[in-house]
Amino acid sequence: MRQIALLAGLAYWTGAARDVITDDAHFYGQSPPVYPSPEMVGGNEWEAAFQKAKALVSQMTLEEKVNLTAGVAADSTCSGTIPAVKRLNFPGMCLSDAGNGLRNTDFVSGFPSGIHVGASWSKDLAFRRGAAMGGEFKKKGVNVLLGPVVGPAWRTVRGGRNWEGISVDPWLSGVLVSQTVSGIQGQGVITSTKHYIGNEQETNRMPEGNTSSVSSNIDDKTMHEVYLWPFQDAVRAGSGNIMCSYQRVNNSYGCANSKTLNGLLKTELGFQGFVVSDWGAQHAGVATAEAGLDVAMPGASEFWGNHLVEAVKNGSLPESRVTDMATRVIATWYQFSQDTSFPKPGVGMPSNVLDPHEIVDGRDPAAAPVLLNGAIEGHVLVKNTKNTLPLKSPRMLSLFGYSAKTPDFFNPSSNLLFSQTWISGMEALDSNYVSDNGLPTFGKNGTMFGACGSGAITPALTISPFEALKIRASQEGTAVFNDFVSDKPSVEPSSDACIVFGNAWACEGYDRPAIRDDYTDSLIKSVADQCSKTIVVFHNAGPRLVDGFVDHPNVTAIIFAHLPGQESGPALVSLLFGDTSPSGKLPYTVAKNESDYGDVLDPAQPEGEFVNFPQADFHEGVYLDYRYFDKKGIEPRYEFGFGLGYTTFAYSNISINYIQGANTYPWPGGPIVSGGQTDLWDAIATVSVDIQNTGSVAGAEVAQLYIGIPGAPAKQLRGFEKPFLQPNESQSVTFHLTRRDLSVWSVERQKWQLQQGTYKFYVGSSSRRLPLNGTMDL
Ligand code: BGC
Repeated sequence: MRQIALLAGLAYWTGAARDVITDDAHFYGQSPPVYPSPEMVGGNEWEAAFQKAKALVSQMTLEEKVNLTAGVAADSTCSGTIPAVKRLNFPGMCLSDAGNGLRNTDFVSGFPSGIHVGASWSKDLAFRRGAAMGGEFKKKGVNVLLGPVVGPAWRTVRGGRNWEGISVDPWLSGVLVSQTVSGIQGQGVITSTKHYIGNEQETNRMPEGNTSSVSSNIDDKTMHEVYLWPFQDAVRAGSGNIMCSYQRVNNSYGCANSKTLNGLLKTELGFQGFVVSDWGAQHAGVATAEAGLDVAMPGASEFWGNHLVEAVKNGSLPESRVTDMATRVIATWYQFSQDTSFPKPGVGMPSNVLDPHEIVDGRDPAAAPVLLNGAIEGHVLVKNTKNTLPLKSPRMLSLFGYSAKTPDFFNPSSNLLFSQTWISGMEALDSNYVSDNGLPTFGKNGTMFGACGSGAITPALTISPFEALKIRASQEGTAVFNDFVSDKPSVEPSSDACIVFGNAWACEGYDRPAIRDDYTDSLIKSVADQCSKTIVVFHNAGPRLVDGFVDHPNVTAIIFAHLPGQESGPALVSLLFGDTSPSGKLPYTVAKNESDYGDVLDPAQPEGEFVNFPQADFHEGVYLDYRYFDKKGIEPRYEFGFGLGYTTFAYSNISINYIQGANTYPWPGGPIVSGGQTDLWDAIATVSVDIQNTGSVAGAEVAQLYIGIPGAPAKQLRGFEKPFLQPNESQSVTFHLTRRDLSVWSVERQKWQLQQGTYKFYVGSSSRRLPLNGTMDL
């Protein structure tokens, strides 16, 4: 019989050993203590900021330092505000949501969501999107952008917030989050990479009544190879802030967990910035300070503030910890030169946009191509038969599904709307719009250009597919028929093609009710029965199954349009009419059936003896998504990394090169800087291949490298490049492999270990279309 005892905000397992993961001695389902909290040490790129911060903080009183450790109420719509220390000319800081664009204010853009960045597999676009967002946040006086998201890491297939993150693959997420952090921070805006860590389901994310929040029970190896991996990339890219998460990790709260904060983040990854709590994620006072939390949001609640002053005065907490908290905040502010070149915090975040206020237009016309190309490249074409796409001046197009059009009510400058409905998923939680199977039908709603929650977007303008299609149709002389109301519409027999729009909704606070929806499947089939070329377009916030209709002979094209942001319509039109060739690839696997995903389909529920202490045991270890499908021999419907274009590519000439002189001693020995031991990033090998565009139109191809590391899953993504090639053009691409890319985490040594033996390499266009292979012995 397992029992749980609660102790000072931490829960410990007692009793019999857990019956899962027995091969990892460091998996206890409990979190080992790591104290004291490491103080900021500066060094390298943080040294100058650290010295300035030390000098400023040394002039502060205890009360002034404590004031920096929690949010205050402010006359702005910043999600959180760190107060000023006027006496010392520190103006305070505005922290605001989120990773897909600035929310809760006017005159901003709506960028493609995280899932869309993942589907684009574009480092360049990830960087430029980050830079464009950073520019907007800065103009609006937002010091800290509350994003990007790499937690959730997509463990739970129905997870309600996966779409805010990038991919189910940690390597892909790691590369793209690194670009995003660099892009945003290059503009002088601090990133709050979130939610650290194991924030893998919305169900029971918060404690409620007698039920504690869910505990993500993660063994040490899986923690490093899956969940910590993209955070490590973000820290290495210099992310100045990390947001700790709501749920518990190995039964200790995310913001009170000394192992994950003091241990993994501040020691192993050498993180020099500050840790902020998710909003309301602090559940203890001195314990959270000792565990490594630096700033509590949205306020001190009953834990810090005067109590922290008192705790120092009565000896419960050393003042040095408070000094370190304040130093980390101020150093981060200096690190991004916010002392010299930053607008007044919150200047573009009026407390009520309905009242007269000074307009600060955050948008930059230079970002237009990023918004459009970002939207285009995250669309993934997975089926295209009977020469359906691209469309060639069709005589008549027929459109179905309310997801084609702009929401019936859309007012970008209504603050009320933003805050109450989290606009891009608006009405989704209203039972009037929820169908029998629990999926919102969006009866009055429209295109899901983003999803719902604090990561929603509130763009000044959106263009829906219907609006963009009509403009294009007028240029092409195409007749357009539409019926967005009937569930069994009649189709004009003279239609050259029909497009059925559907959505697969998600929202913070809820896990997705399902990953298919009978209403939309039946609409698709009813149109396909009458229309020989039926194109299905989903705006989807995660995997959406297609086996309800995929074999219908008249369903001739399927596009996962994901969450493209404000340019949803123009992007889709560009692809449908062949102005651009689709180049997105799935950042997740689409299964044939729900059950193919195994236990991780559904969130863990409070049950049995753990009804008040819900436990999510991550017993699948590193075997998520394609690693799991490979291991179990399950045939996916559309595999990870898959996506079609309007041209074809040939792969040839693989060459695998060990870098002469590279150190292949199994263990790294370098000092720790931001991101971990320096030599984890030493180059060990390169893999080069030639790619040729063998079709008749120009297009980009995402060439992917997978590696079978001895003793690890059969193959894991370790490289991708996205060359754009004219017809017949060839290009050689090179993947660069670091020590970390070729290592596995050693639980015994607590280090990354380069393996000895034969490494297998596979290169191709998806995780299952890998025409080239080779080996290398280490
Ligand atoms: C969310 C965070 C968000 C914060 C501030 C929380 O509920 O989990 O992602 O940044 O609110 O709005």
